[in-house]
Amino acid sequence: MSKTIFVLNGPNLNMLGTREPGIYGGDTLASIEAACRSHGESRGLAIEFRQSNHEGVLVDWLHETATTAAGVIINPGAYGHTSIALHDAIRAIQPMPVVEVHLSNIHAREAFRHRTMIAPVVTGVICGFGAQGYTLALDALAARI
Ligand code: DQA
Repeated sequence: MSKTIFVLNGPNLNMLGTREPGIYGGDTLASIEAACRSHGESRGLAIEFRQSNHEGVLVDWLHETATTAAGVIINPGAYGHTSIALHDAIRAIQPMPVVEVHLSNIHAREAFRHRTMIAPVVTGVICGFGAQGYTLALDALAARI
């Protein structure tokens, strides 16, 4: 049975494709999901791909991974900069390997994006590589699990 990687996406990421393409690129979330599925398949990993605009839903899904997933990729969107609840939820599922992904290089943007609340509790962070960040994260997890 293949191991499952949860790929969780936070607020506004459902708008990818039309949302600020100069910053986030032209990929839609559906095309990122397809890329994750084919990349995961080639590495023997099943992908559970989800998006929510609601912080508590993301918390619930993180809890769900504790018993169902081998690893987690999360693009928390703006909640990454603000959410102690996501920070605590990731602590609660340790030692789950978790990769934080941001499409854009958050350190090259506004100061309020430079800090992430979850960076101290994830395994690693990938930012600035656009949609490729997700498949890079899958490779990082595949090497660990
Ligand atoms: C983002 C970066 C965040 O600062 C922003 O709020 C997003 C997307 C990214 O993928 O680059 O919604 O997480």
